[in-house]
Amino acid sequence: MSEDLPVGVHEEISQPTEQKVDKKEMFESIIGYDDIKRLFAMSLSSDKPVHILLVGPPASAKTLFMLECMKLERSYFTLGSHSTKSGMIDYLFEKRPRYLIVDEIEHMPMKDQTALLSLMETGIVAETKFQKTRNTQMKTWVFATSNGTDRMLTPLLSRFVVLHFKQYSFASFADICTHLLVREGVASDVAAAVSDAVWNKLKSKDIRDCIKLGRLAKTKEDVEWLAQTMRTYRQ
Ligand SMILES: Nc1ncnc2c1ncn2[C@@H]1O[C@H](COP(=O)(O)OP(=O)(O)O)[C@@H](O)[C@H]1O
Ligand SMILES: [Mg+2]
Repeated sequence: MSEDLPVGVHEEISQPTEQKVDKKEMFESIIGYDDIKRLFAMSLSSDKPVHILLVGPPASAKTLFMLECMKLERSYFTLGSHSTKSGMIDYLFEKRPRYLIVDEIEHMPMKDQTALLSLMETGIVAETKFQKTRNTQMKTWVFATSNGTDRMLTPLLSRFVVLHFKQYSFASFADICTHLLVREGVASDVAAAVSDAVWNKLKSKDIRDCIKLGRLAKTKEDVEWLAQTMRTYRQ
């Protein structure tokens, strides 16, 4: 797997919610991306499914969007790398999810990608196993992420609204880092020093590195020392 999932998230978690989520509260953990949030809201209020694929570099909040979508009633989360054809199809027959959330869809076997084609276009799920055929139809929105589109079938791509996330600029990077760290109780000057050290000294554009440093450092001096030490010991 190319990236780690946030703690507590495993493949194919069902998320039974008793109450309908307030759409205004969705995506509140995500800083920025107001246009993308609005687009999701439009898709969610559409009568018929409009599928969305987020493509972009690591740590650009793609998985975070998927996690927020799990707040929706009858949503089901699956990791592309962990699905198998029969597994996913059984799942669809059994649970009939309204929202199918696929993180890192590029790792999904081609066979599964083929099965998704039909679900996304017509809502039909069909399977022939042991000479028996079963069919069903369901209304399912597919929300997915991918680090790239090379490994995806072109017809599958064309069924999505594809949104390419760009690498953060330093200004957005620093803003997100500060928001996240302050939320964790880090002083804002230390948080600012962290984003500066990660971007300029470690030459990293990964927000995760800010979180690591921010959790370790108590002072700006700590930040300097940590950045220096990490530089010494990196490959
Ligand atoms: N816009 C953002 N708002 C809040 N947190 C963010 C944002 N961008 C990145 N992060 C943080 O960066 C980390 C990686 O985000 P993630 O959604 O897993 O990225 P991706 O799936 O694109 O690799 C997470 O810990 C997340 O909290
Ligand atoms: Mg991810």
